[in-house]
Parts: sequence; structure tokens; C-alpha cells
Amino acid sequence: MKSKLFLALLFLAFGLYALKIIVPARAEPASDAQIKRGQYLVERVAMCGECHTPKTDQGEYDRTAWLQGDVLDYKPVHPMPFVAVAPGIAGLPSFATDEQAMKFLETGTNSLGKRAMPPMPQFRFNHDDAVAVVAYLRSLKR
Ligand code: HEC
Repeated sequence: MKSKLFLALLFLAFGLYALKIIVPARAEPASDAQIKRGQYLVERVAMCGECHTPKTDQGEYDRTAWLQGDVLDYKPVHPMPFVAVAPGIAGLPSFATDEQAMKFLETGTNSLGKRAMPPMPQFRFNHDDAVAVVAYLRSLKR
């Protein structure tokens, strides 16, 4: 009796294993290493928080609103295209798919072929770094 149950479970396990092969695999979830690298690029290299995070009265990042968006308190001294609002990018709410967000970070153009307005830099991340930045930003609560 016991061995029948064991066999049934064994078949079930194999069945599930086989299904995983037949059903097309979904995109791999981001690894911890990718998220960590993305955090490093965002916080220490590209300094996204300079514009996308509000500051405290002491001029430090308001960590309770990390990458939740901010109104910039400066403007250009001569007329030029300029948007003084950096939107919230925690969770990357403005991109339906990771691919669109990666394209934006790799080319500076969004899926409509449009560039973000200055002072948003037109980044040219390489693909692996774009994957990491997107993984990190998606890991944050909107
Ligand atoms: C110097 C200021 C500044 C820095 C640094 C900056 N941004 Fe921005 N970002 C902006 C502004 C301003 C906008 C709004 C532009 C617009 O509305 O066209 C913006 C827009 C965006 C958008 C929205 C684009 C869209 O189409 O909805 C994303 C995503 C974004 N930034 C990501 C980042 C990331 C990721 C970094 C760091 C790797 C970063 N930004 C660094 C100022 C900045």
C-alpha cells in the first residue's frame, strides 16, 4: 500500500517536471546578484536619487521616499527644454514591460521613440547593466 502511494507521488513529481519543460518557461526572475548590481549602479554610479528622491531640510536623501519622485529646485539660466519634475521610479510604474525599460536605459528613447526631457540624462547602459538597474528598480515598492 505504502509503495503504491510512493509510486503515485513519484509519477506526480515526474509529471510536474515534464510540464515545466512543455510549458514555455517564463522570464527568469532577477537574481540577488543582479538586484545588488543594479542598486550599486543606481545609488553610487548614475546617482538617480539626485533627482528622483526628495531631500530633507539637511539636503540629504529622504530615505522614507527613496526614488519616489521629486520636484527639482533649480532651473537652467537660459531657455532650453527642461522638466522640473522627476517622476517616481521605484517599481518603474511607467513601463509595462521590463524590455521597454531596458530599451529606455540603453538608448535614451522610450517605446514611443521619444526621449525624456532634460535634465534626465540619456543613458547608454550596456545590456547587462540595464537588466540589473531594471531588476533593482522593480524590486522597490512603488
Ligand atoms: C539630473 C536629474 C536626473 C537624474 C540624475 C536621473 N533622472 Fe530620470 N528623470 C529626470 C527628469 C526631470 C525626468 C522627467 C523627464 C520628462 O518628463 O520628460 C526623468 C524621467 C525618468 C523616467 C521616466 C521616463 C518615462 O518615459 O516615463 C525614468 C524611468 C527615469 N527618469 C529613470 C532614471 C534612472 C534609472 C536614473 C539613474 C540611472 C535617472 N533617471 C537619473 C531627472 C533625472
